Amino acid sequence: MAVKRKLALSKTRTWSSTVLIVHGPNLNLIGTREPAVYGSDTLDDVNRSLTELAAELGATIELFQSNSEGALVDRIQAARGRADALVINAGAYTHTSVAIRDAILAADVPAIEVHLSNVHKRESFRHRSLLADIVVGQVIGFGADSYRLGLRAAVELVQRRRAGA
Ligand code: DQA
Repeated sequence: MAVKRKLALSKTRTWSSTVLIVHGPNLNLIGTREPAVYGSDTLDDVNRSLTELAAELGATIELFQSNSEGALVDRIQAARGRADALVINAGAYTHTSVAIRDAILAADVPAIEVHLSNVHKRESFRHRSLLADIVVGQVIGFGADSYRLGLRAAVELVQRRRAGA
């Protein structure tokens, strides 16, 4: 009986996905920061709704925010061999950070880039992403829904890869 329960648990663990969600600089201020651009949801609101969605999808999420490039690099590095996918809004570092790009490559975890705003409708310096060509895909311009769509895409991606599709 005990053995059976153990087997059932380990089966669940094998099939559940762990997704690391990373928020970069200034995203701790959403809700009050330029609400016309970034919406009225706070980071706590976003994280709460991601936690609810993860439960619905049977996935585990780890949430991390930092304004510091080094701390973001450390957290992404730590995902190697531990997370099945990464959903990242690197904020302004999207447009500048070779270090975050290199950390994603080093972690060897499939990544999805998300942005609250449609960066292509904004200043030209936001049109370039140093992550664009190393991520699986981008979800841009749907406000807080960008994260939820990114999480759904990440979980589906992991499931498909496991199924060998
Ligand atoms: C952002 C877009 C970036 O250009 C900006 O620097 C951010 C937020 C977004 O989610 O729309 O901080 O990543």
